[in-house]
Amino acid sequence: MKLIDGKAIAAQIRKEIAEEVQQIKARGGKTPHLAAVLVGHDGGSETYVANKVKMCEEVGFQSTLIRYENNVTEAELLSCVDKLNNDADIDGFIVQLPLPKHISEDKITEAIDYRKDVDGFHPVNVGRMSIGLPCFLSATPSGIVELIRRYEIETSGKHCVVLGRSNIVGKPAATLMLQKGYPGDCTVSVCHSRTKNIKEICLQADIIIAALGVPKFLKSNMVKDGAVVIDVGTTRVPSTETKSGFKLTGDVDFAEVAPKCSYITPVPGGVGPMTIISLMKNTLLAGKKEIYK
Ligand code: GUN
Repeated sequence: MKLIDGKAIAAQIRKEIAEEVQQIKARGGKTPHLAAVLVGHDGGSETYVANKVKMCEEVGFQSTLIRYENNVTEAELLSCVDKLNNDADIDGFIVQLPLPKHISEDKITEAIDYRKDVDGFHPVNVGRMSIGLPCFLSATPSGIVELIRRYEIETSGKHCVVLGRSNIVGKPAATLMLQKGYPGDCTVSVCHSRTKNIKEICLQADIIIAALGVPKFLKSNMVKDGAVVIDVGTTRVPSTETKSGFKLTGDVDFAEVAPKCSYITPVPGGVGPMTIISLMKNTLLAGKKEIYK
């Protein structure tokens, strides 16, 4: 069993990005600039956004954090998106999800200029991804395929089972594993809460991508010997072992599944660190106008 060290790969890519930013600055180019919009004070969102801003500093990007209280109106938020769309200094921006119930996430996502949509959530980017055109790939699935690529894990003709059908992980991960060429060319099955015989389907998998958000869902009797297991779960489970009072728990019962795997990602330290790095990669591409002129 080989542990997929997302932390180490992310650190390596962070170095690659930082070096490229230095070169851009040295030749008088524009420093890539990411803006993040955060509504309210959700603990998870606060942490994610703080980490994104911190990572911008580490790679040499400029960053701007825009905060609103929970009672912000949809119109106010749309006006903020419009301003960012038209601000020539901002290369890319994100609106951290989830948003309060009175605001339509779809409306906000669609209002973002797809050329600045470094989250890759806009329908134009999702559509371009699904037909294999250059686009901003959403961060988590992009991080997953990067791990597979850097570990040179074989994918051609393999059966990849994706657990979960969310728009930001399950569906795009399935799309990427299905894509022509490496790291795709898989036969893909997508399972979800209504799937019958999940265990039997998982047992046929060469690669399992678990993104259900159900802690320790995947057990050893659902995994065949030699499978590759990618754990996307990051549920905060109350714990007395940590200072914060919670423990990030994956969708895979690591202790019992790991011995059966050829490769497995830990939680934390697997897919998680790759997600922010993918956002940095998209911001660099946005700054260089490499995908959209
Ligand atoms: N909420 C959870 N993950 C994400 C993400 O990747 N981007 C944004 N904008 N919100 C999120």
